[in-house]
Amino acid sequence: MQDLDRLKSELVASIEAADTLEALEALRVSVLGKKGRVSLMMRELGGMAPEERKTAGQALNLVKDAVAAAIDIRNAALSSAALDARLAAEAIDVSLPVRPETEARLHPLSRTIEEVVAIFAEMGFSVAEGPDIESDYYNFTALNIPEEHPARQEHDTFYLSPDSDGRRKVLRTHTSPVQIRTMEAAEPPIRIIVPGRTYRSDHDATHSPMFHQCEGLVIGDGIHMGHLKGCLIDFCRAFFGVDDLPVRFRPSYFPFTEPSAEVDIGCTRDGGGLKIGMGDDWLEILGSGMVNPRVLANCGYDPEKYQGFAFGMGIERIAMLKYGIPDLRTFYDSDLRWMRHYGFLPFDAPSVHAGLAGGGV
Ligand code: PHE
Repeated sequence: MQDLDRLKSELVASIEAADTLEALEALRVSVLGKKGRVSLMMRELGGMAPEERKTAGQALNLVKDAVAAAIDIRNAALSSAALDARLAAEAIDVSLPVRPETEARLHPLSRTIEEVVAIFAEMGFSVAEGPDIESDYYNFTALNIPEEHPARQEHDTFYLSPDSDGRRKVLRTHTSPVQIRTMEAAEPPIRIIVPGRTYRSDHDATHSPMFHQCEGLVIGDGIHMGHLKGCLIDFCRAFFGVDDLPVRFRPSYFPFTEPSAEVDIGCTRDGGGLKIGMGDDWLEILGSGMVNPRVLANCGYDPEKYQGFAFGMGIERIAMLKYGIPDLRTFYDSDLRWMRHYGFLPFDAPSVHAGLAGGGV
């Protein structure tokens, strides 16, 4: 018995001294494994007299349990130490500042789209998308621009080669076809914006064959011109960061809206420079209007039941005005010096509450 007690304390002491998980496992095998010390002693019980076997068996079981318990405890301690060491070795301090020497910059067009999305998201709009290669129907006909309508000529459309049934797809000339796609796929109420690429065959200092627009569409029950005005005035003031920015609605014409209005913001051109805000001059930045009942009907809506407004703006134009970028063509030059000057730090996400005035770096 005394021998067994001594054996128990010896084994427990060596288990407590094991300094790696591997060493502990080797110990376990040498004691409790098939040919382990305690297992062999268990086997010897078979040759003993019944009385002797009973006491010896009980004593041996105590040793076995004590050893197993010591192994469990040591195993837990070594495992958690190993995990701590690994966590310490692989730690990344996410609170460290961005590396100041970082070269990456966010393009001002991406930044402008993010800002527009942030403002409209705050008003409950979600982002919708559609294809760049569009059918004639979605780009024109469904928007109340039938064949031979003069508005088609104004769009300087890029046509693709005719397909097998003679129909020619187009590169979308505006983001308005996504109005139709959205109305066909959803039921009112609808509140979406559509930032995306658009194409027109036009190339000079103020036009690029590929440019960006952001469409907006709101459809519901009882939507009127007051909603359109409130929404767009709020947008202009938030985007340009001028609380009292004058906003003017000027009658205009688009086949898909009736009535239609172009939206101008106040500015001054005193002293050669352009300043957005209170002044004696105006700058056009948006097209808008109440969705034409014919367009609603084309999408299977009852115009007696639902009304809505739509708007569209050029992303390059509002980016140039806000960030003082003088030449449209530089947006697509991939000039790294230009990016360093007009680009944004990629971690500096725009949000309405943080203010959208957004200076460059
Ligand atoms: N699609 C028009 C354009 O490209 C803009 C617009 C959109 C006007 C929605 C009114 C309503 O000029």
